[in-house]
Amino acid sequence: MNRRTAFSKFPEIRTKRLYLRKPTMKDAEWYFEHFSSPEVVWGGGEPAPRDIGAAREELRKYMVDLYRERLGFRWIITLKRDGRPIGSLGYYKWAPSAGYQAEMGYDLTKEHWGKGIMTEAMNAVIDFGFEKMDLNRVEVFIMPRNKRSIKMIKNLGFKREGLIRQHYFDEFGNFADDVLFSMLRSDWKEKRRF
Ligand SMILES: CC(C)(COP(=O)(O)OP(=O)(O)OC[C@H]1O[C@@H](n2cnc3c(N)ncnc32)[C@H](O)[C@@H]1OP(=O)(O)O)[C@@H](O)C(=O)NCCC(=O)NCCS
Repeated sequence: MNRRTAFSKFPEIRTKRLYLRKPTMKDAEWYFEHFSSPEVVWGGGEPAPRDIGAAREELRKYMVDLYRERLGFRWIITLKRDGRPIGSLGYYKWAPSAGYQAEMGYDLTKEHWGKGIMTEAMNAVIDFGFEKMDLNRVEVFIMPRNKRSIKMIKNLGFKREGLIRQHYFDEFGNFADDVLFSMLRSDWKEKRRF
């Protein structure tokens, strides 16, 4: 697949309640506030950006350049009814040498938890991964303490592969374990009953 021609335009997605759109540098203030919230820091294990300048750099690296270099996609989650950003999700580590697999990440503002919003966004983005990116394997790494995320990922049909010891860091920069979950194309087909 030629990624530049296949995705010459950022693939925005609409679901029942959501509009998943392209991130731009204009999202810097939102990014700073969102990724400074204690719940998002705790869930993702990434420390909050130091200041708005650091937030801008992270936004460029993890969202804007990710697509520019076609190493993944990060969508900004907005509610159709008011267009405000409430979170983000997407694929990264979509290496050209291993284009059949990628990792997923996601985060939602706390006031919107428990309404099935991330489940709705994830279902659409998972379909996109298997249908349009030709993925065969999708991975998610979750810290064992993040029970809410683990419950959601299992409900989506991901399977637990095991504990990956000291795979990444917590928000304080200490090595921390992750649980690895995956969904294979065959799991996805089974779920969709093709
Ligand atoms: C992980 C995270 C995205 C989960 O968000 P969430 O809103 O709780 O998850 P969902 O949107 O799928 O909601 C699922 C819950 O909504 C309920 N729900 C309500 N309406 C629903 C609907 N229409 N469809 C599906 N679920 C619905 C489900 O029953 C479920 O509740 P339960 O867990 O009590 O059974 C969120 O907690 C978060 O952003 N945390 C901080 C960052 C983070 O941890 N990121 C992940 C790092 S691995």
